Amino acid sequence: MHLATLFTLPLLAAAVPTAPHLVQGQQGQVVFSGAGAGAAGSASSGIKIDLDLDDLRLVQFGEREPPVWITELEKIEAKAKGRRFMDITETPTLGLTSFLTPASAKYTYPKPGKYAKEVKEIYKSLSVEHMKTFLKKFSGFKTRYYRSDTGRESQLFLLGTLREIARNYPEVTIKEFEHPWAQNSIIVRFPHSGPKDAPVVVVGAHQDSTNMWPFLPAPGADDDGSGTTSSLEAFRALIGANFTAPFPVEFHWYSAEEGGLLGSQAIAKSYEEKGIKVRAMLQMDMTAWVKEGTTESVGVIQDFVDPALTEFNWGLVEAYLDIPPVKTQCGYACSDHASFSKAGYQSSFAIESRFEDSNKNIHSTSDTIDHPEFSFTHMREFSKLAIAFAYELSIAKSDK
Ligand SMILES: *[C@@H]1O[C@H](CO)[C@@H](O)[C@H](O)[C@H]1NC(C)=O
Repeated sequence: MHLATLFTLPLLAAAVPTAPHLVQGQQGQVVFSGAGAGAAGSASSGIKIDLDLDDLRLVQFGEREPPVWITELEKIEAKAKGRRFMDITETPTLGLTSFLTPASAKYTYPKPGKYAKEVKEIYKSLSVEHMKTFLKKFSGFKTRYYRSDTGRESQLFLLGTLREIARNYPEVTIKEFEHPWAQNSIIVRFPHSGPKDAPVVVVGAHQDSTNMWPFLPAPGADDDGSGTTSSLEAFRALIGANFTAPFPVEFHWYSAEEGGLLGSQAIAKSYEEKGIKVRAMLQMDMTAWVKEGTTESVGVIQDFVDPALTEFNWGLVEAYLDIPPVKTQCGYACSDHASFSKAGYQSSFAIESRFEDSNKNIHSTSDTIDHPEFSFTHMREFSKLAIAFAYELSIAKSDK
């Protein structure tokens, strides 16, 4: 890997910070120009980020590719170029335990649709107005970049919202999962009636956002404000139903997905180390966009996921949602489910559409709610998916 040779980046810490603009270089290369932010830099927009561009990071670009040491700056360049990766600097041994001692059997999943009455009762309290109110504020932070001041502020706003929603249900725990950077991940957990070590059902989304150049504003309304909001509204509805089940249900809001799945890897690693069993994990990353001229549907990702769980999700969409599922792919390490897969857990991923029809405004200042194709009712379908997923997998007996 000689990424440095692929790009030209005039980055002078002493230069006056001006807004960089991306230009298309020769052979489709992405070139930053006019950037002037260095370590712990602050762009003219007033965004404060604690990031050392010279910091060396261990990064993996493919399942069978050996990890390589590159700088933070080279990592940003690779991302700008559309390359997908996991930054494994802090979690180089993620998945080692399951690799050395593979589980004797995988979880199998029930036939979806058995709890139509109960699940649809919970759907009644889903509110597009709640979702709008939350996401307007959440996408109003200048950036939710995981190493930024406002990334921490947006996380505290999410935390406060969760505490407010669950204020009359104290058995639900709401915890920050701390990281070495400013923005913590958040884990909420419903009480369960089964054995103490009953396997967990996890619904995930990532709370952080980024601009292609992290020192610039990043509203991140769709990526992944939408998934964060879809799961938040599912959580609200389950709280309203005083939900509890034999298996524990957790909602995770990861920090630093945009840094190379850093937050979810740290959590998956901690679960692996503690021997926490995970029955199933569903990631929702981008749930709002319905491209003009396409049929509104749920993209069920088929690559780098658990096939049985993916088939189960397909059935959930057919049984519970108002729109059909559609098969699609997104490549290596395209969202936080990959961290759980790597840890040896069965994980899955649902996205707003076929991957090729998804929102092209992400990682820019244009990723806002102000587009005709940005749909809150589409986001609500994903809240329904999350509720059905949580309900069926925590109520139904495990076949493992
Ligand atoms: C949930 O529990 C609270 C407090 O015990 C109660 O007031 C409320 O009616 C319950 N809601 C439902 C839907 O059962």
